[in-house]
Amino acid sequence: MTVVTALNDAPTKDTRSDAETTAVTLSGVGKTFGSGANAVTALREINLKVRPGEFVCLLGASGCGKSTLLNLVAGLDRPTTGAIELGTGSPSFMFQEPALLPWLDAGRNVELPLRLGGVGRGDRRRRARELLELVRLDGQAGKRPHELSGGMRQRVALARALAHATQPGSVDSRVDSRVDSGADSGLLLMDEPFAALDAITRDVLQGELLRVWRATGTTVLFVTHDVREALRLAQRVVLLSSRPGTVVGEWSTVGPDDPTGRDELHDEITGRLREVISRHAA
Ligand SMILES: Nc1ncnc2c1ncn2[C@@H]1O[C@H](COP(=O)(O)OP(=O)(O)OP(=O)(O)O)[C@@H](O)[C@H]1O
Ligand SMILES: [Mg+2]
Repeated sequence: MTVVTALNDAPTKDTRSDAETTAVTLSGVGKTFGSGANAVTALREINLKVRPGEFVCLLGASGCGKSTLLNLVAGLDRPTTGAIELGTGSPSFMFQEPALLPWLDAGRNVELPLRLGGVGRGDRRRRARELLELVRLDGQAGKRPHELSGGMRQRVALARALAHATQPGSVDSRVDSRVDSGADSGLLLMDEPFAALDAITRDVLQGELLRVWRATGTTVLFVTHDVREALRLAQRVVLLSSRPGTVVGEWSTVGPDDPTGRDELHDEITGRLREVISRHAA
């Protein structure tokens, strides 16, 4: 179990019982950047639980703190207030921009988490090839990032996140107790990963992501500002207000397989999103 607390907090008590039933728990999480007159409060009093294996979309307007929230869950930064508990090992992260290593070709970028995880050369090369095929980049393994288009780079980044999320042993020793309790493994954090792609590629990759999610039982926390994308993917949509971001609405869907009622939900959520944005602008 990983517990990240605010910088000023005393060491946390053991909350193991909670971590056994939740993959991610945010309790009163706030984040302020800077101090004094220059302080920017990005997030305020976020309370959110994600169950193991659940697919949750975080929805919110530009600048409301979505990336900040995901960075905190990833452990890349620390909250100013509150605490974050992970019931999984180190999460896999897919950033808003594809963060590939420019000196490695596409195949070796995908292999990287496997290499760090101690997977042998032959196995990881085979796995990287499979994942590149999955994201429709067959035959591109030898290309370096600058030789690929933006959308192709983002697909390499998706393949790499999947390599990390689906590798055997991606759940580290800290979660042995959870594995014993039958909870699912892995946490995939995705920050608008498909925003820069054309509609057809986005549709294909959304489908692939759902397939991988179903096959692996990975928990997914997916950030988007696109209501339609949220409804296509999520079992639960969580709406954040404009900055400082806090949870202002939550909807459960019947799941990504069943489009029943999706149009009504789309209109309702879009309406709420508009309200939240106009309240901020007023
Ligand atoms: N490192 C930082 N230092 C100072 N301010 C920051 C930092 N990171 C984010 N912010 C501020 O926090 C707020 C939330 O930013 P964040 O990137 O989380 O928004 P977002 O919801 O991801 O937006 P978008 O949809 O445009 O990606 C913004 O006002 C931003 O300027
Ligand atoms: Mg962002």
